[in-house]
Amino acid sequence: MGREAECGAIQAVIDRALSGQGSLVMLWGDGPGVGKTRLAMEMSEYASHNGFQCSIGRCYERDEPFPFLPFVEIIESSLAQAGSLDDFRRKMGNNAAELAQLAPSLRRVFPDIPKPPELPPAQQRLYLFQSFSEALARAARTRPCLYILEDLHWADESTLALLTYLANRIAQLPVVIIGTYRSGYSKDNPVLVRTLVELIRMGIRPLKLSALSKDAVAQMLDGLSGRQAPGSLVSLIFDESQGYPFFVEEVYRHLIEEGKVFDAAGQFRTDMKIEEIDVPENVRLIIGRRLERLDENERRVLAAGAVIGRSFSFQLLSAISQIDVDELFTVIEKAQQMGIIIPSSEGPEHPFTFAHELVRQTLLAGISAPRQQRLHAVVAEAIERPSPGAADERAGEIANHLLKAGSFADSRRLVRWLKLAGKSALEAVAFEEARRSFLTALSHQGAVDLRERADLLSSLAIAERGLERGDAALANLREALEIYINLGDREMIGSSSTELTDALSQAGRIQEATETAVAGSRILRKM
Ligand SMILES: Nc1ncnc2c1ncn2[C@@H]1O[C@H](COP(=O)(O)OP(=O)(O)OP(=O)(O)O)[C@@H](O)[C@H]1O
Ligand SMILES: [Mg+2]
Repeated sequence: MGREAECGAIQAVIDRALSGQGSLVMLWGDGPGVGKTRLAMEMSEYASHNGFQCSIGRCYERDEPFPFLPFVEIIESSLAQAGSLDDFRRKMGNNAAELAQLAPSLRRVFPDIPKPPELPPAQQRLYLFQSFSEALARAARTRPCLYILEDLHWADESTLALLTYLANRIAQLPVVIIGTYRSGYSKDNPVLVRTLVELIRMGIRPLKLSALSKDAVAQMLDGLSGRQAPGSLVSLIFDESQGYPFFVEEVYRHLIEEGKVFDAAGQFRTDMKIEEIDVPENVRLIIGRRLERLDENERRVLAAGAVIGRSFSFQLLSAISQIDVDELFTVIEKAQQMGIIIPSSEGPEHPFTFAHELVRQTLLAGISAPRQQRLHAVVAEAIERPSPGAADERAGEIANHLLKAGSFADSRRLVRWLKLAGKSALEAVAFEEARRSFLTALSHQGAVDLRERADLLSSLAIAERGLERGDAALANLREALEIYINLGDREMIGSSSTELTDALSQAGRIQEATETAVAGSRILRKM
């Protein structure tokens, strides 16, 4: 409702893509709940009707980045939508190794996927991007594709780099990408700001969603109530919500729950007076007031879900909330009826999603910081426990919870998961994210012994080389070698001095490379 112009513009883009001319649409709005997701979903429906294959990938607010997360979600949901595994494997063709670099879970399904070719770090990313773009082009040959990348204000560097790469290439493909972001947050993400500048330079003008007009709010209320809403109610809700659809819904639901809108016969009250209607002054308070309808136990369970994240699985919530399964079902059902949570489209791992980030945050605000931290530690353990092998794929998520767990987390465990998360990021050629994980791990000095420090430094050096920060890489490699010499570890002295020699010669510092190689073999001979 009230989005005719925007719908028209995006439908035209979708129609154009049908004739082979693809586009990227960046959809943004000022505040939360203006309707970006809704519009993107409506467009996905339109595209589906026109034969498109549609997939969605989301970004989340995370302390510990998960490289390429929305693209991973897109790859995994394409697999879930595929006709058969053989068919999907065939479609991946020569790009399977690189797709598995992005989404390591593919290797569990297709153990035959080969290793990606060995390339110098700085070239790996370009190769990966080319490969992903080829896979996209191949998929689009069978069916035009629409990809929705949600909440890019939380995107990491790797995701935005791949998006920019694709934006340069989709003009010749029957592909539409819709990216959504909130401008208030974009200032906190300098990489997004840089990306937008780059996209604008390429001629992509972001499409802004403004608040709805009063007429559109009236239509929305007609839709919500199933009958024509009286002018007084429309005015009240329009003023309170400033035309933000999410707020419209919340104010409306609040008034319904207070019993202020309908009379005993279920009709709109005609004697409704604005003065007697008490609307809390901001949406957070409205949500808070609505959550008060839950009892303490129900609120506690949902707050535990909020600690897991925007989406949570029933199993995980049940593992951490320590209540009877039947009781948990009852809480979930009630929360669904109240519109607090909705079933999610993310597949069986994440079947529930909070209706809105503000709902999740309001639930979190209801529990103390130490309790939140303790719950994060419990969540990390619950993800880790059932299958240690599969947990490796979720290293970033576990590290994220352990970071948020503060003093409740065992720092040795935190370092171990950060190291694993960093190594998975290296596998995915996400050097920026890998670097962050290794640096965070190194900052927990008390939990890192010398051998581990050397290992982290060598891994950090790979990330630094990938980012073309040669001097930093050399300093890390030198320190790692020094540690192995002090430890007297022959094998590691050998490999570490080879790495340093290699990095020096690639930097054109041939003399130093030769000296390092000679010094290394002299040390080994003496041992
Ligand atoms: N034009 C509209 N007509 C009717 N309902 C709408 C409209 N736009 C949004 N809504 C409803 O308002 C709520 C918030 O919308 P939505 O989730 O799309 O906002 P958003 O901009 O994606 O928010 P966020 O920034 O938090 O991601 C949803 O329940 C949605 O269905
Ligand atoms: Mg949204």
